Amino acid sequence: MVVFCPMPSEIIEGDSIPLRGEFTPPGDKSISHRAVILGSLGEGLTTVKGFLSCDDTLSSAKAMMMLGVPIEIEEDRVEIKGKGLFGLNEPEDTIDAGNSGTTARLMSGLLSAQGFFSTITGDKYLRARPMERVVRPLTKMGARIWGRDGGKRLPLAIQGNRLSGIQYRLPVPSAQVKSAILLAGLYADGETEVIEPSPTRDHTERMLSYFGIDFEKNGTSVKIKSQKLLKGGELQVPADISSAAFFIVAAVINSNSEVLIKNIGINPHRTGIIEILKQMGGNIEILHERELNGEPVGDVLVRASTLKSAEIKGDIIPRAIDELPVIAVAACFAEGETIIKDARELRVKETDRIKAVTTELRKLGAEVEELDDGMIIEGKEMLTGAKCSSWGDHRIAMALAVAGTRAKGITEIENAECVSVSFPGFFDVMKRLRN
Ligand code: S3P
Repeated sequence: MVVFCPMPSEIIEGDSIPLRGEFTPPGDKSISHRAVILGSLGEGLTTVKGFLSCDDTLSSAKAMMMLGVPIEIEEDRVEIKGKGLFGLNEPEDTIDAGNSGTTARLMSGLLSAQGFFSTITGDKYLRARPMERVVRPLTKMGARIWGRDGGKRLPLAIQGNRLSGIQYRLPVPSAQVKSAILLAGLYADGETEVIEPSPTRDHTERMLSYFGIDFEKNGTSVKIKSQKLLKGGELQVPADISSAAFFIVAAVINSNSEVLIKNIGINPHRTGIIEILKQMGGNIEILHERELNGEPVGDVLVRASTLKSAEIKGDIIPRAIDELPVIAVAACFAEGETIIKDARELRVKETDRIKAVTTELRKLGAEVEELDDGMIIEGKEMLTGAKCSSWGDHRIAMALAVAGTRAKGITEIENAECVSVSFPGFFDVMKRLRN
């Protein structure tokens, strides 16, 4: 029997309709993951407002519930009855991280230090992604972890153990790996030090500090000692700059656009997209800067602009890593040749994003050359609407939708429902701003 599974697609009308208006994107995904994980380890009640309720963060919340933490989620509000650092229980079943690398890697760090056995897996995309990068340092700390492909892939089986602090230099910049080691370090004997090759997002450190944990941060080194107590509290999550990114680019590339995107987290480790687009000539202003629970926040005003090409490489790459697919879309309309280099990590994201972006943008008539660690894009006036595929990757689906806004005619994005991984209402916001 042949079973036909229709792949829900989305249609984007092209022809450069301007985007106008204001909106607040959903909560920051990285901070929402950390809120449910650290809130669960807190003493007493943690309440979270502005939580991003999407497939990925719900994977983290369900994981913590499986460890015995009572968590109630009502839209963007979450109540966590923290169990303290030492109150988690052995899960009765395998933890499913779904599509979420952050869940799989942070949880591996936490589970390594617990006095029980657990298993963790994910969807077919996550099962193909590298886990050795967390397994190796955690094993050095004394963790006992088994996994497919010699411990390189999910599912992982973790027998919690007494850990010892290590000094670990990350071979590639990764906030997920840094955070996994720091979570294990909360329990390890002695001192745990993580040294990054270049700085990555520091939401774990900021939230640990907000919850009363002491550690030493010096340049790209973080040192932490074992802890007895983590305080719960009230958290407000800013809106996600990675979700705002799609509308920042859409407004920049379509004439007569003006969009105010409110309450955006502007942590300096995440604002690479704004710096890159400004360098390309993007008219972007940050207004009303303020702070929420130790995280900087602002409103971002974006106006249509004429873009020129840029060379994007080096330390800015980790600060714009999730936004590179949509930056590639901006480059399609910039005068000259844009080069993106040093971005090999894109090959091990939810999908191989270098291949996905190159293949799909070419279908829309873009001139994109694939490099081992990036791409070269020649700007042009307009793309041409076509049928393309998300490759099951939320950020590819949204980047293609943005490309479709400045294409002649209709762009159809197959398998577009994957936007629910990080931005469930994405297509509704797009329609509203283009009306
Ligand atoms: C994340 C870190 C980054 C990023 C991911 C979220 C996090 O991954 O790409 O979307 O929340 O720590 P890496 O740590 O693999 O670079």
